[in-house]
Amino acid sequence: MDVLGIDIGGSGIKGAIVDTISGELKSERLRVPTPSPATPQAVAATVAELVEQFDWQGPIGCGFPAVIANGVAKSAANIDASWIGTDVRALLTAAIGSSCVVINDADAAGLAEMRFGSGKDWAGTAIVITVGTGLGSAFFSNGILYPNTELGHLRLKAGPAERYASGAVRKKEGLSWNAWSKRLNRFFALVERLFSPELIIIGGGISRKHEKFFPLLDVQAELRPAQFRNRAGIVGAACLAAASVD
Ligand code: BGC
Repeated sequence: MDVLGIDIGGSGIKGAIVDTISGELKSERLRVPTPSPATPQAVAATVAELVEQFDWQGPIGCGFPAVIANGVAKSAANIDASWIGTDVRALLTAAIGSSCVVINDADAAGLAEMRFGSGKDWAGTAIVITVGTGLGSAFFSNGILYPNTELGHLRLKAGPAERYASGAVRKKEGLSWNAWSKRLNRFFALVERLFSPELIIIGGGISRKHEKFFPLLDVQAELRPAQFRNRAGIVGAACLAAASVD
């Protein structure tokens, strides 16, 4: 089934039509800047404009950077605080004019990687970490997602781990690969102590540069770069929407 997948991020809102059987994109990937301030009304209007560019009437799946329970945002770490308590699903469905399902962005990326990408056919436990503005996480056991794990908010150095070891922090502080990897190692040590995952997949745009820092990482789990990189959120959100139509 073809579904329009959308990934709402802090700097851009991306979308593409996805073949949810193969995981392949069936259209080009379009990106529009996230409005600033990224209030619910402004983001909904921007998503509606993006959907119009695809001239799309079918199902839509959307990844969103917050804890999502029954379509409602329960947190707002890197987005406008006014999202907390907002029914994202209802808001987007009304703005677009057709039904839209919503999932945490990292969970969406994880679904794509486990179904079609680096975690395909992995039978044990696996954690997908998306590295970007924040640190997103998706937790799987035997291919089943345990949603909204938010491991980027584990405490590290007196604050959320993502404020210490995210991709944005690496850039902002001008950290060398070596210095940043040390921070990531601290984060993964915490994750491994708590969950002992057998596989860790690192996603986000930075997975393209995995040769630069994978050799510096010290983890017990098998370590793999994501295959879908920053398309994963689009593909996973589309798959969720396809499943809810079935
Ligand atoms: C949010 C998560 C999100 C991650 C990646 C974090 O700040 O709390 O919900 O998955 O950023 O976007």
